[in-house]
Amino acid sequence: MSNDYIKDFPILQNREYIYFDTAATSQRPVQVMDAITEFYKKDNANPLRGLYEWSIAATEDYENARAKVASFINAKRASEIVFTRNTTESLNLIAYSWGRTNIRKDDEIVVAVSEHHSNILPWQMIARETGAKLVWLECDQAGVYSDEELSAKIGEKTKVVAIAQVSNVLGQPKPVKKIAEMAHKVGAVIVVDGAQSAPHMKVDVQDMDADFFVFSGHKMLGPMGIGVLYAKQELLEAMPPFLTGGEMIEYVTREDATYAEVPHKFEAGTVNAAGAVGLAAAIDYLQQVGFDYIEAREKELTAALLEEMKAIPEVEVYGSEDPAAHCGIVTFNIKDCHPHDVSSILDADHICIRAGHHCAQPLMQYMGVNATCRASLYFYNTLEEVHRFAESLKKVREELGYGS
Ligand SMILES: Cc1ncc(COP(=O)(O)O)c(C=O)c1O
Repeated sequence: MSNDYIKDFPILQNREYIYFDTAATSQRPVQVMDAITEFYKKDNANPLRGLYEWSIAATEDYENARAKVASFINAKRASEIVFTRNTTESLNLIAYSWGRTNIRKDDEIVVAVSEHHSNILPWQMIARETGAKLVWLECDQAGVYSDEELSAKIGEKTKVVAIAQVSNVLGQPKPVKKIAEMAHKVGAVIVVDGAQSAPHMKVDVQDMDADFFVFSGHKMLGPMGIGVLYAKQELLEAMPPFLTGGEMIEYVTREDATYAEVPHKFEAGTVNAAGAVGLAAAIDYLQQVGFDYIEAREKELTAALLEEMKAIPEVEVYGSEDPAAHCGIVTFNIKDCHPHDVSSILDADHICIRAGHHCAQPLMQYMGVNATCRASLYFYNTLEEVHRFAESLKKVREELGYGS
């Protein structure tokens, strides 16, 4: 499988560097950069406020981006899309607004142990405030949640199930459609963190019947500072605002205020229109590449990576042995070597990986490690890079004085 897309990514033109940290943030194609520049060159004015041509154009750009996001995840209506800064803000919005209104003492908040801190801390806070109980879903070594575990933990007291569609450490995709069904059977809602799924697979929020689905633009070729909260219309309408101030109101008196319709009720202050335009361009780009290609390419690269790593005896890879169950994410350790040292040694060869706890410390505790290394690939990576990465890995122990 050849890679014709690299030419679109200015930063990847320097072939000395290998970028294996897409799960942290992706690189951006020139089409996304151009769309942002065009917005500032041609339409820039404060959107949703002015009654003159430029402001109206900026508003149109922003609302067209919302419609594009809605169709990207197959939401029923554009008004079900709220723009935020990122996944973290979207999850906080859900917890503060929906959680504070709906969760009571002794209710249960079911959280998967493999979650990113962004989908843990807001729920810890709500549990502390309300007296609700956090219930943990435990996975196996591959990051799989068994039917028995799901049935045992999702029950009559469950109010919300918070789970990522794809883990940022193990890469393992979850059967969110089935989990949504289980949550709905007991009257609970499901919050799906799509930060690591939306960039890599076709998402259909209606088919999975997600109540909430969140993701970040910067992990899927878009700019930093723009994120998405999808929620079913009836949920958004019943939720109180998260942030208050300009643009989210209908009418304000000295004592009180009425709020704008959704989604504007949740978008206080000047919005990130350029970010939304950049995200829309990223969606265009991803759709042109196609998720069939992206998934096949990632599987091919991951299979090669796992194969090369298996041949190095001191390397321990976490998660499934099936390359298709990684979504481009391979987490590992090298015997005796601290992940930070591994990352620094690879950096000397211009190889970018992530080392640390990956904002998933409960999962690290469950895995019995403090930290790991993580190589995360995207369709713009190559087999040649995989091979160079493996060659560098082989030198790490020797460089740290352990012999070859
Ligand atoms: C699964 C998952 N959830 C949430 C986040 C947080 O994303 P952001 O920093 O864009 O808010 C990340 C980022 O790494 C992630 O991988």
